[in-house]
Amino acid sequence: MTAVARRFTDKKLVIASHNPGKVREIGELMAPFGVEVVSAGALGLPEPEETGTTFEANAELKALAAATAARLPALADDSGLVVHALDGDPGIYSARWAGPGKDFTIAMRKVEDALTAKKAGDRGAHFVACLTLAWPDGHRETFRGEVHGTLVWPPRGDQGFGYDPMFLPEGETRTFGEIEPPTKHGMSHRARAFEKLVAACFR
Ligand code: IMP
Repeated sequence: MTAVARRFTDKKLVIASHNPGKVREIGELMAPFGVEVVSAGALGLPEPEETGTTFEANAELKALAAATAARLPALADDSGLVVHALDGDPGIYSARWAGPGKDFTIAMRKVEDALTAKKAGDRGAHFVACLTLAWPDGHRETFRGEVHGTLVWPPRGDQGFGYDPMFLPEGETRTFGEIEPPTKHGMSHRARAFEKLVAACFR
């Protein structure tokens, strides 16, 4: 039997991210629950090294580090693109494949080159997002969301970010790079993880 998740009953939540885009997006998602959000960056908390080998482990270590340092509940996410023919790469290293310049044109090209080098017939991939809500006493709840699809080449569209222009979600004719962001946000891996978090901890 699955244990019942701990409910979030505080007023304030730390977003364990130094990425202003992520902090804004999570702040908007939390607004309906009357939760005041504050970012780890604004609190001057250090960014822990992502030493985990899974999305879950990295989300958990980021959330725990922030909750412990701030003595407040903290929410962290870890996400990436899992390419089936590449044994799951770039996976937890999705951001790193873009190099220090964070150039996703390069990262997408690397994925395509790796598929070509493998003569991969399978162009299946999925995005993963793991969200961890951690409390200062060490308790944590983690939720995973996925969206499945295939990879196209060349990339299409200039909306979204990261690997969006080469990701064609199942059942769609437009890539995430061509789909307007509000529609993407309704069907994304992150949205699915959020739905689970809200149902479990903000019920
Ligand atoms: P994180 O900040 O360590 O979680 O890095 C996640 C990385 O995965 C991002 O930099 C993107 O490269 C990729 N990624 C995650 N979610 C998406 C998405 O919705 N679209 C495109 N790329 C994504």
